[in-house]
Amino acid sequence: MTAYLPAYYPHLPSPAATDFSSPQDRSMLRGVLERVRRSRSSSTVVSDVDEASRSLQLLHIAHTAVLNPTHSQLIDQHLASVHQAGRRSSVLDVGCGTGTWAINLANTQPYADVIGVDWDWSWFTPSQSVHGNLDFQTIDVSAALPFHPSYFDLIHVKCLLPSLPGYAGLIERLAACLRPGGMLILVESEVGYSSDQPMSPSMRTWNACIREAMAGKGIDSGLATDLVGFIGSRGVFSSAVYHHTATIRGASGGQGDVESLACAGRLHPDLIAVILDRQLAELVRFGYGHTELWPHKEAVRHELSHPYSPVRQRIFAAYATKVGP
Ligand SMILES: C[S@@+](CC[C@H](N)C(=O)[O-])C[C@H]1O[C@@H](n2cnc3c(N)ncnc32)[C@H](O)[C@@H]1O
Repeated sequence: MTAYLPAYYPHLPSPAATDFSSPQDRSMLRGVLERVRRSRSSSTVVSDVDEASRSLQLLHIAHTAVLNPTHSQLIDQHLASVHQAGRRSSVLDVGCGTGTWAINLANTQPYADVIGVDWDWSWFTPSQSVHGNLDFQTIDVSAALPFHPSYFDLIHVKCLLPSLPGYAGLIERLAACLRPGGMLILVESEVGYSSDQPMSPSMRTWNACIREAMAGKGIDSGLATDLVGFIGSRGVFSSAVYHHTATIRGASGGQGDVESLACAGRLHPDLIAVILDRQLAELVRFGYGHTELWPHKEAVRHELSHPYSPVRQRIFAAYATKVGP
């Protein structure tokens, strides 16, 4: 699989190529398409939802840039081994968000049948599916999953931990849906930011608030940094878990536009600002005072945007093979 930029100008998925599972899904998708079409054709300011969707896409591009080529090679090799055995493969993308990973995979792997699931399609970015091997389903993954046991050859979960209490339970359910020999890929960002040097009081405050807010929602924010130990403790995966830690940093020397920086695995100051504003809104929803947090958010923004800042966000990826039944 080659990493490439998703189409920013949405094409309607061809009805023959993209099969949405239920009438509700189809009506939801029509709403999303209509909203995207309106926002693209009008000269009005892009809405918060469009901005959130775009920042999710840019983050995805940055994640792919820092994880590749290994990430794509492991996926390619695994799917090739299934296809060489003479059958199509089944792939699940859990919490697919913009749908970009699922769409790219379906378009680059004609012998893979790809399903993207999510419960909220606000960020979905329609794009052309060329092989008719892509489906999207509306599913709350915190509950029982509607898939047969041992069905999927590959399951991909990226950046779901911060929004999902009960992540461990989900991984148990996903493991049951994976074939023996199937591959589970977990990609999660470090919660907050880290550095090899002492961090500023504002950065430490920001990290502490984010972690406390997550703990308040019942999310174990430390889990991202120990994906391998976590997978090992499930008891159904091979002990040889391939894992990879990559780093996302702010723009180097302020050079480049938002997209080209994302392609280089770096975040433009504008994208950092959008991400921090979203985090601030979440923290205020959790109960922190906007006025108290605002100066910390601004200090963190300056620090992350500084070309020589030692502060970064780590991305952890783990690739595990199911050995149990
Ligand atoms: C941060 S986004 C990540 C999207 C995508 N995986 C990526 O890396 O770009 C998290 C996604 O998980 C979805 N999500 C969170 N909780 C969910 C649940 N209980 N069931 C289904 N999807 C969920 C959200 O709607 C959102 O689209």
